[in-house]
Amino acid sequence: SMVDKGGYSHFMLKEINEQGAVVRSSLKGRIEGGRVDLSDELQWTAETVASWRSLHIVACGTSYYASLVAERALSRWTDLDVRVDIASEYRHRTVRTDAKTLAVFVSQSGETADTIAAQRVARGLGAHCLAITNVRGSTLAREVHDTLLLKAGPEIGVAATKTFMGQMSVLYLLALYLGRLRGGITAAEESRLVEELNQLPYKVEATVAREESLSELARIYAERRDFLFLGRGYSFPVALEGALKLKEISYVHAEGYAAGEMKHGPIALLDEKVPVITVIPRDSLYEKTLSNILEAKARKSPIIALGTDGDDLLKSYADHIITVPWTDEAFTPFLTVIPLQLFAYHVAKRRGCDIDKPRNLAKSVTVE
Ligand code: G6P
Repeated sequence: SMVDKGGYSHFMLKEINEQGAVVRSSLKGRIEGGRVDLSDELQWTAETVASWRSLHIVACGTSYYASLVAERALSRWTDLDVRVDIASEYRHRTVRTDAKTLAVFVSQSGETADTIAAQRVARGLGAHCLAITNVRGSTLAREVHDTLLLKAGPEIGVAATKTFMGQMSVLYLLALYLGRLRGGITAAEESRLVEELNQLPYKVEATVAREESLSELARIYAERRDFLFLGRGYSFPVALEGALKLKEISYVHAEGYAAGEMKHGPIALLDEKVPVITVIPRDSLYEKTLSNILEAKARKSPIIALGTDGDDLLKSYADHIITVPWTDEAFTPFLTVIPLQLFAYHVAKRRGCDIDKPRNLAKSVTVE
């Protein structure tokens, strides 16, 4: 193949390590004078942009989780009515889609059958369709009105890592751009966020460099049979993605849950055998998630807290603490997902799994 492992034992590890570069190349040429500018790629008239009322994002798998992260930023920075759907659901019930809808289809490969079918339905109903994909010339990219490319380079590992990072980057650029065009965000807020976005590649690289602590954590927990991943707000989709990575490549049962929803079910499964990995950066929901840690701790679950550098309070709540650099709340998923990718990688490695080609999974699901 054209791509080799570049000294890494697996493509997945190589791709995890490329994530700082992926954010950097996604931003390149798309920020001008401290503002996001996508006008080269999206030839939208002011009239078209003003006509939209809702924004639908449609995807499968990890691309769906990147979309759930972006939903939070888009709802905050734009005045659009944002909803995110799984493609196989959206395609069969998209009655409210119309010409006032911007429909965004997120697919690494651009070849996922359900996502392509969902695009055709939305387009048939008059929506303006935008693809966010890593593959120029893919089926999806050829059929939509507009395309934004990830520029992540080919991803070989079946479990998506760097393309998740690329998708979040591009979706955030879109959020800031739409926020500006529609006046949903102040100029001061925009420049503060763009500045933080520019810092992200360095923070991503610093986070990836902490691999050792995840390999140590995997050594302790690789034999467990069940894991619960929790998070709130921006960290909820991160918990979903962390659980997905673990089950995809290590075949361990892992459930991702909204922290506040734990007591409506998963708490029944908790005991000393079930570790709880809580994504808890220092954000506006921090205190609420802390209370969920206490609930899990009371059921004797080993607690792994994934927090922010310098958060000493976590020490009295958790058995293990993994931290990432500080960033604005909205950008925390770019950092918190990395230790979860590395944890899944090291658990799978210890369990002797075929990391780059997990059983029963395909890189892209091109048939229904
Ligand atoms: C498969 C892959 C996943 C991917 C999903 C969506 O399930 O194994 O890694 O997230 O398809 O693929 P897409 O190419 O549409 O992003």
